[in-house]
Amino acid sequence: TTLSFDTSKLSSFVNEGELEMMQPMVNMADSLLREGTGAGSDYTDWIKLPTEYDHDEFARIQAAAKKIASDSKVLVVIGIGGSYLGARAAVDFLNDYFNSAYSDADRTAPQIIFAGNNISGQYLNSIIKLIGDRDFSVNVISKSGTTTEPAIAFRVFKQMLEKKYGVEAAKERIYATTDSKRGALKTLADEEGYEEFVVPDGVGGRFSVLTAVGLLPIAAAGGDIEQLMAGAAQAQADYADADLMKNEAYQYAAYRNILYRKGYTTELLVNYEPTLVQFGEWWKQLQGESEGKDGKGIFPATGNFSTDLHSFGQYIQEGRRNLFETLVRVTEPVTDVTIPTMDADDGLGYLQGETMSYVNRMASDGTLLAHVDGGVPNMVVEIEKQDAYHLGYMIYFFEIAVGISGYLNGINPFNQPGVEAYKKNMFGLLGKPGYESLTEELRARL
Ligand code: PA5
Repeated sequence: TTLSFDTSKLSSFVNEGELEMMQPMVNMADSLLREGTGAGSDYTDWIKLPTEYDHDEFARIQAAAKKIASDSKVLVVIGIGGSYLGARAAVDFLNDYFNSAYSDADRTAPQIIFAGNNISGQYLNSIIKLIGDRDFSVNVISKSGTTTEPAIAFRVFKQMLEKKYGVEAAKERIYATTDSKRGALKTLADEEGYEEFVVPDGVGGRFSVLTAVGLLPIAAAGGDIEQLMAGAAQAQADYADADLMKNEAYQYAAYRNILYRKGYTTELLVNYEPTLVQFGEWWKQLQGESEGKDGKGIFPATGNFSTDLHSFGQYIQEGRRNLFETLVRVTEPVTDVTIPTMDADDGLGYLQGETMSYVNRMASDGTLLAHVDGGVPNMVVEIEKQDAYHLGYMIYFFEIAVGISGYLNGINPFNQPGVEAYKKNMFGLLGKPGYESLTEELRARL
């Protein structure tokens, strides 16, 4: 199997028969999701995306990635939230950890730099310094086309491109991924004649990694997007049956719900590989934005191990018992290091000649058992290889699981009303036209 899901270490937390008892509720959640009768059903086109996508656009994405590779050393990918996290996770997962820091000569694809995901001038200046006088292009991604963070960054890089290449030639270096009809970015892209890619109507930001939102940056970074889609398509086929005994993604959703009801309200997605750190960030949005509403939901966090075992590992082992962990690991290491043989006695003699992947594996097994003994339920998601196919498969595993999980918890997993509150206040404080009374009210409160 492409992905294995191991729940054997849940036995001291979940009683026999508990999973089976979830079946009727899972059936209900499944029909809400698949028949489009659940809340937010307008945003469930991602379910069939791996098999029903725009093939012409897909070919244009590949052509654009080739063009970027031929005329740019750097691609600045501008976006935030769902318009950024998936691409970043995939680019990290499919490359060496320090790939973006390698010299141009040591890289086969352009350097991918993510901008517009914060409001820091310092960060933006450091990107400008990093680009230096090298050739670059920009992929600006915003479904609404109005999000402040990417809009500011885009202004800066648009101006830089225009200064460097002239207004007309700059247009050839800007790729806009946005709504097919609406929004400020759509209007601008039409006017300026940028190459455009679409964020489909029925796919929310956090489910958009397998659309142009993720695919163009991933392809530009040298990722095999055909394999990515093929893996996701296989998962779409494998996770179509609502029977919990046959569907491990649904099992994951059901176990999360069982644990949540027992008071395990925080889930740590754990990895032992720095190239999986950003996958955790993508997952945090997928879970947090889908499920954290109506005063409910599992709080999604990550554990980057063994690093974090030396920081909040103490808490996981002995702190408040409201945590559970989902370990994501890859069976075959991409590359490995053999621990050198030495005469000097540094206490590591028993490990010499072993591989680091073996030590890492023992660390993850040992930690898992220790955490289970400490009262932390653990599940394991394991994929065989760290490649595009397996990534596509795993992305779909977590996406389909969150759809089911959200309905099991009685919320709409596909909206995000809470994201607006900070934006409203920010606009008020910045004096955006239309927010005058809020401006006064907030300034008085500060
Ligand atoms: O999932 C979401 O809706 C958000 O995280 C958005 O993706 C994020 O706010 C960016 O929005 P947009 O693509 O409209 O710029």
